[in-house]
Amino acid sequence: MQRFIPLGMATALAVASLAPLTVAAADNRFSAHVDSSGQISLPKDFRSTWTHLGSWVVQQDGAPGQGFHDVYTEPASAAAFRKTGQWPDGATLVKEIRAIRSGALTTGPGLWAGDNKVWFVMIKDSKGRFRSQEKTKGNWGDGWGWALFDAKDPSKNMSASHEKDCKGCHLPAQATDWVFVEGYPTLQR
Ligand code: HEC
Repeated sequence: MQRFIPLGMATALAVASLAPLTVAAADNRFSAHVDSSGQISLPKDFRSTWTHLGSWVVQQDGAPGQGFHDVYTEPASAAAFRKTGQWPDGATLVKEIRAIRSGALTTGPGLWAGDNKVWFVMIKDSKGRFRSQEKTKGNWGDGWGWALFDAKDPSKNMSASHEKDCKGCHLPAQATDWVFVEGYPTLQR
C-alpha cells in the first residue's frame, strides 16, 4: 500500500498516528479543525468565541431538522465575507442543532433550546486539498469539507460522503456557494 503514497505523505501519516499534537500545529496554516489526512473535527468554544450568524427553527415533529439551529463562524471569516462576499479558505461554519423546549414564559407561550442533538460543520477549501486522500475524500467537494457530529459521540464524523449526506439538501443554496446566506443578518454589509 505504501508505494502508492508519496514519501512525504507516508511520513506525515506516520507522524499523525504518533504525535497528533505536532501535526495539529502544522495544520493550523489551513485549519485547526482538519488534520493532515483530511479528517474534520468539531471545533470547541465556538459558542463563546465565534460570531453568531443567525438562527433557524424547524418545529414540525418528525421533520429531519427538527430543532433550534444556530450558525457560527470565526470572527475573521465573517469579517472577510462582509468585505469580499466570499469565504476565505479555512473558514468554518458550525450549525448547532438543539432540541426544542416549550412552556409558559412571562413574555408569552415560549420555545427555547434544550439539549444538543447534532452539529454540522463546513470548512472552506477552494483548492481540493484532500482529493487524493482515499479515506476522507468523500467528505470534501464543491469547495468545502462537510462533516456531521452527534452529541452522543462528538469525536467522530458520522458522514462519509457529502454527495450522499449533504449536497442534495444544499442545492437551493448552490448559487451562494452552498450556504443559506439569507438567514444570516450578521453577514450583511
Ligand atoms: C435535510 C436537508 C439537509 C441535509 C441532509 C443537510 N443540510 Fe445543511 N442545511 C440545510 C438547510 C435547509 C440549512 C439552512 C436552514 C436550516 O438550518 O434549516 C442548512 C445549513 C447548514 C449549515 C449552516 C451554513 C449554511 O450552509 O447555511 C451547515 C454548516 C450545514 N448545513 C452543513 C451540512 C452538512 C455538513 C451536511 C451533511 C453532513 C448537511 N448540512 C446536510 C439542509 C440540509
